[in-house]
Amino acid sequence: MKATKNEQPFITDVQELRSRARAHLDDGAVTPAYRGDVKQTIDILQTVLATEIVCVLRYTMNAVAAAGISSDSVKEEFDQHAKEEQEHARKVAERINQLGGRPNFNPEGLVSRSASQYVEAPNLVEMIKENLVAERIACEHYSELIRYFGENDPTTRVMMESILVNEEEHANDMHDLLVAHEGRPSLPQR
Ligand SMILES: [Fe+2]
Ligand SMILES: [Fe+2]
Repeated sequence: MKATKNEQPFITDVQELRSRARAHLDDGAVTPAYRGDVKQTIDILQTVLATEIVCVLRYTMNAVAAAGISSDSVKEEFDQHAKEEQEHARKVAERINQLGGRPNFNPEGLVSRSASQYVEAPNLVEMIKENLVAERIACEHYSELIRYFGENDPTTRVMMESILVNEEEHANDMHDLLVAHEGRPSLPQR
């Protein structure tokens, strides 16, 4: 980008940017333009990672355990969600790594790091209900995080926004399944 004599260049001089990047090679993707609190961001993303792993486990277990009349389509839905939760976990882990952290996949303490719970439901309808609860918790938690990251960490914010879109679909899918299997809406209709 070229700047005329009296104008301030829009971006910092390219040479300067390059030498700064070289001087902080250890910082990986975290450059001086990063306005977030790196340590705090990594800590937050570790809880998101744990939440996503718990979701993978719950949906996978549900897909295997789902039984009864017309459970095939529900099994398929659970499997699909498990796959998507796995993708979320991977994205979040990659971001932690980019920020210089070590993604925590340790099964020890997993549930206490997670925002959602791992509940063993006794039947199909209860499974669907538990998943709906977990999805609603994820939606609320992630909405908060998106506001927190704001302009200070747009990369993490955009990632969380893309995950949130998917969690809202999941919540909607679970709600539809519940209506189909219970014959009535479980949430108040607006
Ligand atoms: Fe997810
Ligand atoms: Fe989800």
